[in-house]
Amino acid sequence: MEETSTITPDMVIKQVVEKYPDTIRVFAKHGLGCVTCSIAALDTIEHGVRRHKLELEPVLADLNLILREPSAIPEVLTGGLKPPTPGTETATTDKIKKIIAIISGKGGVGKSYVTSALAIGLNRLGYRVGILDADITGPSMPRTFGTEARPAQAEDGKIIPVMTAQGIKIISSLYFVKGEDEAIIWRGPLIGKMIKDFYNQTFWGELDYLLIDLPPGTSDAAITIMQSVPTNGIILVGTPQMLAMSIVKKAIRLAERMHTPIVGVVENMSYLMLPDSGKKLHLFGQSQGEALAEAAGGPLLACLPIDPRAAEMIDNGQLEEYHSLETDALAGNFMVESVPLLKSRTLAITG
Ligand SMILES: Nc1ncnc2c1ncn2[C@@H]1O[C@H](COP(=O)(O)OP(=O)(O)OP(=O)(O)O)[C@@H](O)[C@H]1O
Ligand SMILES: [Mg+2]
Repeated sequence: MEETSTITPDMVIKQVVEKYPDTIRVFAKHGLGCVTCSIAALDTIEHGVRRHKLELEPVLADLNLILREPSAIPEVLTGGLKPPTPGTETATTDKIKKIIAIISGKGGVGKSYVTSALAIGLNRLGYRVGILDADITGPSMPRTFGTEARPAQAEDGKIIPVMTAQGIKIISSLYFVKGEDEAIIWRGPLIGKMIKDFYNQTFWGELDYLLIDLPPGTSDAAITIMQSVPTNGIILVGTPQMLAMSIVKKAIRLAERMHTPIVGVVENMSYLMLPDSGKKLHLFGQSQGEALAEAAGGPLLACLPIDPRAAEMIDNGQLEEYHSLETDALAGNFMVESVPLLKSRTLAITG
């Protein structure tokens, strides 16, 4: 590495990374883990940093520091959580304004889709958003957002979340295993401990909303996680068939047990819009969104249709580029209907 070089804001990220590979660690440290992806890589440093709503000066200072001293920025994590440096395992609740847990009575109803769509909508409204992918058995956020880069580790041992193209911060268990197909077999208590570690050991910075994608159901794992992280509200995701099941009652019991209000209900897969006639086909029976919301005791935020385009964009890791009236309304309704219902908490979790 040439000691005399200087990195300036007008340089193109791709060229900087190619010339000085060590700088990848700097970009990752500052939440620009996506620097190697094709679009972001063509940005200048200044544009890329601003697009991620970050300060330019600290990034630039670190980039020039690593030119002189390659060991100044720690290695990118390559799997397995390192134990935190003693004394650094402090709660980040002071910087995270509100935490919302997304639950569903059963698997496969679109909990992760709703979590992502809400995060994207809130981000578009200008809020700082993070996602804690707590669905250890089926983590899906890295796929949905196309963020395969692994998180970096800060000097104090904290994990720096991966940043999506639009600036949503993500921590997922998938970042800590070798591949998506690697089976993750963790029993309830271990899952709780793991999520608590994710939450406590992550350098979230300032967030308006942290969304937690919980494991499906109202299982032990979901309960342990909710006991480990001070949530301000719960969003229940269901499908048109769910009202008939005991799931709603279980969700209500979970909310009561956690002393956390259900601040919103989303009915997913409500209908399919027929492309030719424009008519709504109620594949899973008549929409029961209103009744579901009434039973759960929270406002109905959206009835989301089955949209093959959304499914395709999830599969391609491009959901941030997806737009629909219904998903936009989801974030808007959340701000109007759910935010006033969020419970205020001063509780801070440590260790
Ligand atoms: N409204 C929708 N339109 C089109 N596809 C959808 C919709 N909702 C969910 N899907 C697709 O259905 C599948 C299941 O959705 P998702 O992963 O969000 O469910 P989940 O409740 O999180 O499932 P799990 O219990 O496995 O975590 C995904 O492949 C997703 O792309
Ligand atoms: Mg899921």
